Amino acid sequence: MTTPEHVAIIMDGNGRWAKARGLPRVAGHRAGVEALRKAVRAAGDAGVSWLTVYAFSSENWSRPKTEVSDLMGLLKLFIRRDLAELHHSGVRVRIIGEREGLAPDIAALLEEAETLTASNRALNLVIAFNYGGRDEIVRAARRIAEAAVKGELDPANLTSEGFADFLDTSGIPDPDLVIRTSGEQRISNFLPWQSAYSEFVFLSCFWPDFTREHFAESLRQYAARERRFGATVAESVPAGVAS
Ligand code: FPP
Repeated sequence: MTTPEHVAIIMDGNGRWAKARGLPRVAGHRAGVEALRKAVRAAGDAGVSWLTVYAFSSENWSRPKTEVSDLMGLLKLFIRRDLAELHHSGVRVRIIGEREGLAPDIAALLEEAETLTASNRALNLVIAFNYGGRDEIVRAARRIAEAAVKGELDPANLTSEGFADFLDTSGIPDPDLVIRTSGEQRISNFLPWQSAYSEFVFLSCFWPDFTREHFAESLRQYAARERRFGATVAESVPAGVAS
């Protein structure tokens, strides 16, 4: 079975999970963190090299203040409580998204997680935090324009590979598989550039109910897909990327 090198997950449905139980939304997010722990273990056990999760989008700031602060609190708790174990298991943590404007304690924790785990190789956990795909592309375009103005880059020579080097995901392979829970079928500004040729699996379960069985089922669906990267079946696809 073809195992994807990179799986990305839109962890959706925490609020509805909580509502269905008559609980406050924060209870859904707390249960979501537990599901995230399970997903990290499942990805490592399945031999996936990269796992990217959408923890907080640039658009999530428009939620009620209390919910935003609950989500910030959960991120801090997750890093404080789980960092040692993630490090012990050989997980390398990387954060994508806009860092500017984040509270200093959050920014410091994110940096600590990246620095501590920088030489780990078992699994790469990429946390998309304060992330929005369009925002990421605009920030990249801005840096490219600045480099061009300084004469460090010739716009005529810019390629899509060169552009990708300016994205937050520089050095990270594109996701092979994107999973979204909760029955919604859209990408919500999550890795729009990087998922140009990704396979998508949409699951009806809410994120807190996500188990390693859902993960395995998503990998099975992925393995049954035929990836062509814009070519026809007869033409060859990038070596080592698909089969
Ligand atoms: C979507 O559910 C989920 C989020 C906005 C955040 C995802 C966060 C977690 C899984 C927990 C936090 C994890 C870390 C690492 C901080 P929703 O609230 O949009 O659910 P709904 O669509 O049912 O309302």
